[in-house]
Order: sequence, then C-alpha cells, then structure tokens
Amino acid sequence: MWTVCVLLLCAVHVRAEHFLHEAENPLGYCQGEHECHSHDDKTANHRTYSQTSNVTINTSHSLERFKVSCQKLIEAFPVDEVDGNYVRTVKNCVFSRSLPTPLKAPVTLAAVSKSVIEDILDLDIGVTQTDAFLQYISGAQLIPGSIPLAHRYGGHQFGYWSGQLGDGRAHLLGQYTNRKGEIWELQIKGSGKTPYSRAGDGRAVVRSSVREFLCSEAMQALGIATSRATSLVVSDESVWRDQFYDGNVRKERGAVVVRLARSWFRIGSLEVLTRGGELDLLRKLLNFIIENNFPAIATEDPDKYLVFYSTVVKETAHLIAQWMAVGFAHGVCNTDNFSLLSITIDYGPFGFLESYDPNFVPNTSDDEGRYSIGAQANVGLFNMEKLLESLHPVLTPSQQQQAAVVLKGYAGLYQMRFHQLFKAKLGLLGEEEEDGNLIAFLLKMMEDTGSDFTMTFRQLSEASVQQLHRGGFTQETWALHDLSSHKQFSDWSRMYLLRLGRQEGDDDEDRRQWMKSVNPMYVLRNWMAESATRKAETNDFSEVVLLYDVLGNPFLAQDAAEENGYAARPPLWARRLKVSCSS
Ligand SMILES: *[C@@H]1O[C@H](CO)[C@@H](O)[C@H](O)[C@H]1NC(C)=O
Ligand SMILES: *[C@@H]1O[C@H](CO)[C@@H](O)[C@H](O)[C@H]1NC(C)=O
Ligand SMILES: *[C@@H]1O[C@H](CO)[C@@H](O)[C@H](O)[C@H]1NC(C)=O
Ligand SMILES: *[C@@H]1O[C@H](CO)[C@@H](O)[C@H](O)[C@H]1NC(C)=O
Repeated sequence: MWTVCVLLLCAVHVRAEHFLHEAENPLGYCQGEHECHSHDDKTANHRTYSQTSNVTINTSHSLERFKVSCQKLIEAFPVDEVDGNYVRTVKNCVFSRSLPTPLKAPVTLAAVSKSVIEDILDLDIGVTQTDAFLQYISGAQLIPGSIPLAHRYGGHQFGYWSGQLGDGRAHLLGQYTNRKGEIWELQIKGSGKTPYSRAGDGRAVVRSSVREFLCSEAMQALGIATSRATSLVVSDESVWRDQFYDGNVRKERGAVVVRLARSWFRIGSLEVLTRGGELDLLRKLLNFIIENNFPAIATEDPDKYLVFYSTVVKETAHLIAQWMAVGFAHGVCNTDNFSLLSITIDYGPFGFLESYDPNFVPNTSDDEGRYSIGAQANVGLFNMEKLLESLHPVLTPSQQQQAAVVLKGYAGLYQMRFHQLFKAKLGLLGEEEEDGNLIAFLLKMMEDTGSDFTMTFRQLSEASVQQLHRGGFTQETWALHDLSSHKQFSDWSRMYLLRLGRQEGDDDEDRRQWMKSVNPMYVLRNWMAESATRKAETNDFSEVVLLYDVLGNPFLAQDAAEENGYAARPPLWARRLKVSCSS
C-alpha cells in the first residue's frame, strides 16, 4: 500500500516538478504555518467556526450624499495629455481620461448585490429601485465626483509579452470611502471604447456579464479574495459577437456590470512602465500601492519593494491553492489579469470543475491547455517571475538575490497551503505522515472515476463514519457512488476511517459540521450560468437572482436550489456545453 500511495502522489503532482523542493526563506517572511494564514483561517489544527457579526446597519435611504472621488489618483499620477476615446499608444502616464459611452436603448436593472450595496456602499437596498441609481450604474450619468479614467497597463498573454493593453471596456469611476473607512474603486465594465480598446467595441454581452456578476459574489461567499460586483444591467443595444471564434457572428444584447476592488492594479500595470523605461513612474506607482494597500509595509523601509514582492508571492500562492480547493479554473491567467493585491479579478472564460480532471481547460479555444486547472500553480510561478522582472530596476543587487530566493519559496508556500486546505476538506486534525498520500490517493481515484469534485467532498462531509464503513452508496449520494466504483476505494476508505479514528476526542458530528463549512454544496457550474443567461436574454432575471441568493450561502442546503437540481448530477445537455470565450 505504501509504495502505491507514493507513486500516486507522484502521478498527481507530475506537473509540479518545481514544487518538490521547499526552498529556505532567509528573509523570514511567513515561515511557520501560523504566520501564513492569509485570506481565510479555516485551516488551523483545531476547529474554529466564524461567528456572524451583529453589526447595526446604518445605511442611507437616498443617493443625495453618494459620491466618489478621483482626486487621489489624479494627483498621484500624470494623466494622458491626449483626450478622446480613440485607440493609440500612450506613454508616461498611468491613466487616460475617458468617458463611458451610455447604452442607447432602454436599460433594465437585472440584479444587485445586497451585500455590496449595504456593507460596502452604505446604501439602503430600496435605493436600487430609483431611477437615479439606474442612471449611475448603467453609465448614463456620472456619480458626483467621478472623473472616469481608463488605466494603461501591459502584460504577458499566453506566455508572451503583448505590449500595451489597458482597460479596453472598463472605466474607473472613482474611489468610494465607506463608513468603515475602506476605500473601494468602482469600475463600470461594458461601457464603451477607451484609448485601450484595440480592435474591440468596448461592450460586454449578457452572457459574460451574468457570469462576472454571479461569480464575483459567489467567490466572496466561498471565502476567496475577489473583486466584487454591485449590479448587472442589460440593454436592448445590439452587440455583434463571434462567440466561438468560428466565423458565426451573432447579434447579442449588451450589458454592464459595476464592479469594485480595493485596487485594480495588476502585474501588467508595473510591467508596462519597466518595459517602457519609465522608472520614475514605476517607483511612484509602487509607492502608491504600498502606501494605500499594504499597510504592514513601512514607507521608509529601504527593503519595502522586496517586502512587497514577498507578500505578493505568498498571497498569490495562497490564492491559487484556494482556487484549487474549490475546483476553480480562472481560464486566462495572463499577467494583466493578475491583481497585485492577489485577489481574483477578470472573470472571463472561468469554470468550476465538475467531473474531476486535472487537465480541465475552461476556455475551449485554449487548445494547448496553458491555463488548465492543473497548470495554475505553475502559471502563478511564471507570473511571479514576470513580476520580479518588472521590479528588477528598483531593487539593489543584494535585494535582487533575496527576491530570487523568495521566488524559490513560492512552490513550498503553495504546497503547504494546498495541503492545509485539502486536509480541512477531509476533516483531518493535526498532521500525520501519510496525510499527503491520503489526499493524493483520493484525487487519483476521482480522476480515474471522473467523480464530481464538489459533490464528492460534500458527500464525504455528510456521510457518517458508519455510512462510510458500510459503503454501498446509492444514487442519493451520486458522487460517492461514482467514486466507490474504483477498485481501490475500499483501501482508501479504510485508511481514511483509521485516520479519523485516531483523532482523539473528535466527535463525528463535529467533523461533519466542520467539513460542511469548508466543502460547498453549490458552485456556479457552467450549465447553471447558461440556464440563467438564456432566461436573462428574454428579460427574465429570476434565475440570476435565485443563483445570487443560493451561491451567497454555498455551504447550506437550500430548498430552492434542490428543486433546481443545483447539487444533483448535472443534466445531460450540460455535457455538450462549450464555454463561450468572447465577452
Ligand atoms: C442582534 O441584535 C439584535 C438587536 O440588538 C438582537 O435582538 C439579536 O438577538 C442579535 N442577534 C444575534 C445573533 O446576536
Ligand atoms: C448613522 O447615520 C447617521 C446619519 O448619517 C449619523 O448621524 C450617525 O452618526 C450614524 N451612526 C453610526 C453608528 O454610524
Ligand atoms: C484580461 O486582460 C486582457 C488584456 O487587458 C483584457 O482584454 C481581458 O478583458 C482580460 N480578461 C478578462 C476576462 O477580463
Ligand atoms: C482563449 O484561448 C485562446 C487561445 O489561446 C485565446 O486566443 C483567447 O484569447 C482566450 N480567450 C479568452 C477570453 O481569454
């Protein structure tokens, strides 16, 4: 058994040669498990439950005082001297002024995020029914204080330097400071051409907007750092798209999403400056990001860029491990689509794993599978290399050496986080030597049997130790039914049960509760997004709203979700579904 497990581990990690040696970390950033908890904390060696806070909400019932500001950004950086939304090469600036182009035809509010409206924007949900609100979030009217900007950045796309890119269909509307003192940057996406639109029309379609709206809020509910979405507006304005890049151009409806992040700067925001030799501006941008978004880094610290790099490396490794723990494939991990705050941004051709497959590629046009789910950890490493290249000119030779060591530590950080998260998914307390094998062995069986990623872990959370002993899973527990067809399932389950049995003083009910709090029951499967989109195309937004509600509580069984089969075996038509790539 032992040798078999070791081999299986190798098989599972075959893409991860880089990860076999955990480099030492002489800088001492984040060395022990305990210092490395970043965005969530559900992986400790004891079980903790997060408590829902009971804060009195003090929201505003009118939009009168609602305003944003661009002052800080405009004062910090030079703005493009040229005006106008025509496509051009831009130098020596970080932003260009650019006005959104309002959608012509009548617009309809399809959905809003209650939690963004109340908890971030301090507004009462009733405000979203007003005409003024619709005007603001459809781009028809500017929020007071707004000086819309388009950000200039570059990036490595599919492995190659692509030169100038930039906000091609998004406008930064301004910064909102909420009652908690948090600064949020509001962007409108699908709002028309900017100087960075290249060949595009700057619009977004219903399909991609529904997906971005729902997935942003679903990731938040899963406890994964992400940009947020306020609202989804659809219009009757026609947008022409070749959905599968096969020459079939089709008319679709335009839509806009208002989205938020603490900062929208990307790796490519720095790269374009380094490549252009604009080093003063590079320092300015780095100082701005550190001062505003990395409060733990002292602005006078001579090592601040190095500490910044080390933080991004660590947080990115953790973010990608979290993606893996929910079976999320981002789909377009270019350096221009990777946030410097290590939050998930740019929801495009993403997908959640169904049948477990490490080669799962959500973008059907990505023939080489560069951004397959199993490749994400390595792509993260590639992006961290590119980030380091862009920082090189501002690091001293000794800092460059130290940064190279930090980069070597990425693999170890990723593996450690992955291990912690999957241990939690299996309800394992403490650490035993064979835990890695237990996880790898399970994933290998899931791959062999094609069992459903989300529901295998969920049903393991729901099954009692007695049920696991008994086996004989029916269609009721369909994912375990599939998994248990593996000829080594009983070996694995014996190992697992023995391991659980050694957890002293651990009550089976506690284990199940805890596992249910880390293994979601509902994720945004492609077929669910597709079904909601089809209805939204005909102005029926009921399923978008239902999915928003259900995915806001992904760990909790819900009647409406069960009626729609969201945790059931996917419908047959779902298998033939291709992910739409144009947006
Ligand atoms: C929240 O606060 C309200 C009002 O003070 C109180 O009635 C309620 O019991 C509290 N809920 C929880 C979960 O503490
Ligand atoms: C609630 O809002 C009112 C009106 O804006 C303000 O005067 C009051 O201080 C706020 N209370 C809290 C607890 O924030
Ligand atoms: C990724 O970045 C590119 C380049 O800026 C941009 O055109 C694209 O829209 C981004 N991807 C998504 C899904 O937003
Ligand atoms: C999907 O992959 C293809 C091939 O690499 C690429 O050209 C396209 O831009 C990708 N689509 C998106 C939305 O990133």
